[in-house]
Amino acid sequence: DLSVGQLRFLLAHSNSLKSACVPHLKPRQNFGISPPTPSWTQSLSSKTVALLFSKRSTRTRVSSETAVSLLGGRALFLGRDDIQLGVNESLQDTATIISSMTEGIFARVGDHSEIEEMAKYSSVPVINALSSLWHPLQTVADLLTLHEHAKLFEEGASASQKTEHLPLRPLTISYIGDSTNVLHDMLVTFPRLGHKMRVGTPPAAAYQCPEPVWNRVKELGCDKNIWWGSDPQDALRGADVVITDTWISMGQEAEKAQRLRDFQGYQVTEALCREGGANPNWKFLHCLPRKQYEVDDEVFYGPRSLVFPEGENRKWTTMAVFDALFGGWHIPSLAGTS
Ligand code: CP
Ligand code: NVA
Repeated sequence: DLSVGQLRFLLAHSNSLKSACVPHLKPRQNFGISPPTPSWTQSLSSKTVALLFSKRSTRTRVSSETAVSLLGGRALFLGRDDIQLGVNESLQDTATIISSMTEGIFARVGDHSEIEEMAKYSSVPVINALSSLWHPLQTVADLLTLHEHAKLFEEGASASQKTEHLPLRPLTISYIGDSTNVLHDMLVTFPRLGHKMRVGTPPAAAYQCPEPVWNRVKELGCDKNIWWGSDPQDALRGADVVITDTWISMGQEAEKAQRLRDFQGYQVTEALCREGGANPNWKFLHCLPRKQYEVDDEVFYGPRSLVFPEGENRKWTTMAVFDALFGGWHIPSLAGTS
């Protein structure tokens, strides 16, 4: 729902929060020099944010709890066994009550309709922490990571010859694997920022883009910059960045055997990317958690992999989004959604 201008604004804010907080949190990196006075505002001071998680989480939970804490607020973690929701109480009543006592709701749900319903009945902002269709904050973290590593994508010069703050050039971003919530937010975001996407998913109907997502992709004009096929090697042609997600998303565990058969040939490896014609300098992203059958250890733990900075950036980007939507920090209404 954010315009390109608003996204860029959030990325810049994430970057400045990270620059302000990291030296403060890790003063040993200052070699004995006192940490600077924190320059971010305590915008959640005296405020409570409800974190409703109906599914497991490591990154989304830790990033959101720590982000609220750094903004001076209190995070109230509400797991599926903690509250009446789904057993004794409806979503409508839950959203009405929780929003009457808190300043924001961050919710990880099953079906996407659940987050829509929560937003309908909540009197405070509701942010999607992952639903069946979308995982918006993951894409913001991925974008920050690509921008931070912009120099790695410049040809003809080593990383050390580059200045730290290069603009990110238009990239070819290849995603192979399942059409997941993580991919869907990339589809509506990367093309609007000038990047091309190449997607490779197995041919069965279950692995194609869901209609509501593709409708939004077309509405935003992103489809013009997306190639989609079923051959992973075709999808990797010219890739500057290679991305995959889990082949078995939370809730699909019963389909494991079938999925492992259907995804044969989609494991990200050096050989597959070379044979597919990826840019020799390609880099790798994965939202995590990761299984070895999706990407081998050589890639995952090798020099191409940006997965751990990507994981950490969940915190700084979430902090910027919370500051804006729960803390009252203002996102200017820059242009439309294009
Ligand atoms: N990437 C991500 O959302 O990870 P978690 O499921 O651990 O939160
Ligand atoms: N597609 C995965 C993402 C996990 C972060 C899932 O929904 O389980």
